[in-house]
Amino acid sequence: MGVQLPQFTRRRVLRALGRDIVAVLLLTMGCSLGVPGDAESGQQKDSSDYQQYFPKYTRPAAIPFPTDNLFTEERAQLGKTLFFDPRLSGSNWISCATCHNPALSWGDGLPKAIGHGMTELTRRTPAIWNLAWATSLFWDGRTASLEEQALGPIAAQAEMNLSLDKMVAKLKGIPQYGPLFASAYANEPISEKTVAKALATFERTVISGKAPFDRWMEGDESAVSAAAKQGFVLFNTKANCVACHSGWRLTDDSFHDVGLAGEDRGRGTQLEGIEEAQFTFKTPTLRNVERRAPYMHDGATPTLEAVIDLYNRGGDVRRPSLSPQIKPLHLTAKEEQDLLAFLHTLTSVDAPVTVPTLPQ
Ligand code: HEC
Ligand code: HEC
Repeated sequence: MGVQLPQFTRRRVLRALGRDIVAVLLLTMGCSLGVPGDAESGQQKDSSDYQQYFPKYTRPAAIPFPTDNLFTEERAQLGKTLFFDPRLSGSNWISCATCHNPALSWGDGLPKAIGHGMTELTRRTPAIWNLAWATSLFWDGRTASLEEQALGPIAAQAEMNLSLDKMVAKLKGIPQYGPLFASAYANEPISEKTVAKALATFERTVISGKAPFDRWMEGDESAVSAAAKQGFVLFNTKANCVACHSGWRLTDDSFHDVGLAGEDRGRGTQLEGIEEAQFTFKTPTLRNVERRAPYMHDGATPTLEAVIDLYNRGGDVRRPSLSPQIKPLHLTAKEEQDLLAFLHTLTSVDAPVTVPTLPQ
């Protein structure tokens, strides 16, 4: 059974992404096939308790790319350069990486993002890990692809405040960008479209590497603590976190109301009149989550301990959209600690990100 799992998962991943995505880039980080440990090979005797859940968390073998924007090194490099270039803002001061900072797990460490003119935005900056597999973007799911998403923050007055016409003119006026665009998108001009495609290609390569959790699933019993193993079982049973944080990225790509106080209707702003959608937000990945405090769309939950307490008391607000899974969990203090220990096993040690030299 173990041998067939990766293939099954790959098929499922591709199916979920839709028919236009047929091209894939093999992951090169040596952690691609999360083949579960062999049950027969002398594991601890309680290993069957948790091994039954491993298949749900198998990592895919390849990154999917859309057929109209296939991966090339040149595209990823151009996208990375644009991502770190503050000249994509009206003030020449704010880049994508100002808010999605690799040193802060591709977030900004703030409860709410701060944009152009020190404007505080209404929501927290999400990390951009593993979005190649995402089926919608933003906390409220208002865009469907990374290409579609990429230009929004550049033009938004409260974010980077640069009209897209001006952006194209500005990039054309930087001589060294010419050859970079030409080698990435031959026969296509420097345009909104090629900027969006390059940014999206780079973002698809931002993948969280192997974490202790993955090494444990591969059979290294010493990769995680006994508490974390108990926490993993709780995650899949009594605490039922898996109802929404499922799969290797630990997100179902769906929207739920977890009972946070506040007036932001989230997905409900896109689906007005649908009661179940009100106050729902996209389930965030839990990969590297310990490095991204404070938490939730409003950044109002300061620590992972506070997140677990929130779930344990069944959220703070009762209303029709509240997800049925959000109810008092009756976890003991020890069980809360075990869950926390499990969340800590999701942190990968990734190669440091080098900031590109910007074209002149
Ligand atoms: C001023 C801070 C800021 C800047 C600059 C910024 N972002 Fe964001 N980004 C955010 C915030 C805040 C959100 C969430 C907004 C929401 O959901 O309504 C977000 C959401 C996203 C998402 C969706 C993530 C997800 O999980 O759904 C992506 C992708 C993204 N940004 C990429 C970019 C790119 C590419 C750039 C540069 C062109 C950029 N961002 C510039 C703050 C910023
Ligand atoms: C009903 C679906 C659901 C269940 C069950 C659930 N979560 Fe969540 N989780 C979400 C959603 C949706 C968010 C984002 C909510 C928001 O910001 O409004 C979230 C946010 C989080 C965050 C914050 C991540 C970040 O980047 O801000 C953590 C940590 C987390 N959940 C852990 C857990 C744990 C641990 C459990 C089990 C005790 C659990 N979740 C159960 C859907 C769920």
